[in-house]
Amino acid sequence: MPTTPVPLDVQHRASLREHNSFGLPAVARTLVRLRSEADVRRVVDHPDYGVAPKFVLGGGSNVVLTRDIDSVVLKVEIAGLRLLREKADAWIVEAGAGESWHALVAWTIEQGWPGLENLALIPGSVGAAPVQNIGAYGVELKDRFDSLDAVDLVTGRSVTLDAAACRFGYRDSVFKQAGFGGLAGKSVITRVRLRLPRPWQPVLGYLDLERKIADTGNARPDARTVFDWVCAIRRAKLPDPALVGNAGSFFKNPVVSPEQCRDIIGRDPEIVHYPMADGSIKLAAGWLIDACGWKGKTVGRAGVYERQALVLVNRGGASGAEVVTLARAIQESVYGRFGIRLEPEPIIL
Ligand code: EPU
Repeated sequence: MPTTPVPLDVQHRASLREHNSFGLPAVARTLVRLRSEADVRRVVDHPDYGVAPKFVLGGGSNVVLTRDIDSVVLKVEIAGLRLLREKADAWIVEAGAGESWHALVAWTIEQGWPGLENLALIPGSVGAAPVQNIGAYGVELKDRFDSLDAVDLVTGRSVTLDAAACRFGYRDSVFKQAGFGGLAGKSVITRVRLRLPRPWQPVLGYLDLERKIADTGNARPDARTVFDWVCAIRRAKLPDPALVGNAGSFFKNPVVSPEQCRDIIGRDPEIVHYPMADGSIKLAAGWLIDACGWKGKTVGRAGVYERQALVLVNRGGASGAEVVTLARAIQESVYGRFGIRLEPEPIIL
């Protein structure tokens, strides 16, 4: 018997305030909730939505909405968590793009499949994780990535991409790139597969984790302990988006040449910096912003978080324009003092 297709879940003039972690006001002319790959194809085949410009919204944790959106907003809500394969050298876990990233991390730890513990409590959805190659405490998504499925928004075709095809970089991937071969706005990630290597090896080289080892005297923590430590570190430093609107780090940590760095260190010897494998040097943007006196400041209804200068927050009722105005003022003052241009991490729309 032929089955009747479930109609698309479409909402007109939908408020996006609940759908972005900054809590910014914006209205989507059309919001479509995607619960399956078939839903994506229904959008592609739709007489109006098929040809309309589209914007893919994941957990809304990496976007600054400065205006209402005329494009068709696609809210990915594809569910599912499963162990795909258990191999001698790895567990392969698959998650629907609409699952919460942290829920996935917590589930893998509970099941006894460690490897994602350093990435605990990162806000946002599973599908958004590869877009900006999320990272924390010495681990990036690309270090645990197996492959992902996506649906092309023009042809409706499903594709599977491996790590090379995703072109992962620091908070970057092919899904953020608009130029040649870039996939920004061109496809919807539907499922992500992670590879959790066996035997498990903890990653404990990050300063905050070394401090935990020193404080607790536990030099051989298990994955559950690392998970708990990362949650505690993040809760102490970063605002919970459920309580205070924010999008995590607002700027990327800038990478400079050794010559540039020598210059800067000459003037500010205490600047926090890390040498990279290719000889360049990464500077702590939080330190640069802090040094310019921004920590805890408020401009309009947007502010700089009291405990981490790299995080901009909504002090209550802020507009996207207020957040962007504050961000520009910070960029100007950091450029004025250090000659370094800070690049925003979230997508500004
Ligand atoms: N610092 C200051 N003042 C501040 C903030 C930071 O002096 O107000 C100094 C700290 O003392 C520290 C250094 O800057 O020595 C680095 O700070 P932190 O360890 O907090 O990390 P971060 O570089 O600011 C990055 C990621 C975070 C990630 C943490 C932990 C980026 C843009 N941010 O922050 O990611 O959680 O490392 O690995 O790479 C995110 O991307 O949204 C995010 C939260």
